Amino acid sequence: MLYSIIDALQKSAIHIDSLLKKCKFEYLDSINITGDNQLGVDVEANNIFKEALLELDAIKGICSEEENEAIYKKDSNGVYLVAFDPLDGSSIVSSNLSVGSIFGIYNEEFCAKNLIASGYIIYGPRLEMVVAQDSVNHYVYSDGGWRNIGSLTLNDKGKINSPGGTQKNWSTKHKILIESLFLEGYRLRYSGGMVPDLHNLLCKGGGLFSYPSTSDAPNGKLRALFEIFPFAFIFEKAGGEAIGGISDGSGLSRILDLKIDSIHQSLPCFFGSKYEIERVKLAYK
Ligand code: F6P
Ligand code: MG
Repeated sequence: MLYSIIDALQKSAIHIDSLLKKCKFEYLDSINITGDNQLGVDVEANNIFKEALLELDAIKGICSEEENEAIYKKDSNGVYLVAFDPLDGSSIVSSNLSVGSIFGIYNEEFCAKNLIASGYIIYGPRLEMVVAQDSVNHYVYSDGGWRNIGSLTLNDKGKINSPGGTQKNWSTKHKILIESLFLEGYRLRYSGGMVPDLHNLLCKGGGLFSYPSTSDAPNGKLRALFEIFPFAFIFEKAGGEAIGGISDGSGLSRILDLKIDSIHQSLPCFFGSKYEIERVKLAYK
């Protein structure tokens, strides 16, 4: 049953990849519920995933970054729910940087502890897909088919630092953390697209990606259900860690233990290998 969902996502990926190659990157007059201006391809990518998933027997419902509410099927015997960001990083589409789609597959309820698989598609020089279940499998699309090219695993320590958010709005603790990693020899890699930035860490064996609480966005920018939970699952299955927190003073916790109040909620978040996440915990103590 899970296979039918992955198959639908793979077919949708091929379709969206061909749309991106048609270079139609105009903004529409509409904004989504989070206040982002929508591109035509944001809406088209959303419709492609929505239609492909809702027709599957295995599906109970879906929820998308581009939709206000979750959509549940009437009279469905399906148990799986899919939450997705149909086209992440659309603000960098015009500069021809890689963008992606992110998905999380849940059993019966949209809560982090019910995630059973997650992954992303990356539209770059190659079309690739990463799917995490017990391990993290990396697929490439070539010659009309998807080929598994191996699994992604993180070392205990990496070399890359990918710090998100506007620097003037970082807290002093966060500035000290980021600067100390650079002083230790970490190198900056940041495209402004969550999918390529985290894919780079996964392919290079580790490092730190952070999107912290900032003075202008205390809950960070990235969305829990569509972006953070799926990547937290992937990082843990790859041997790394993911921590974050609601900015109510309760501190940072394992992301997959966090509960959210609304489907569009954002959270400060940190993804990395074990060493860098330990550094985050010390810096934020
Ligand atoms: O979905 C939001 C997003 O485009 C992510 O892909 C990316 O990681 C982030 O915003 C970049 O934000 P900023 O430019 O504030 O670092
Ligand atoms: Mg996004």
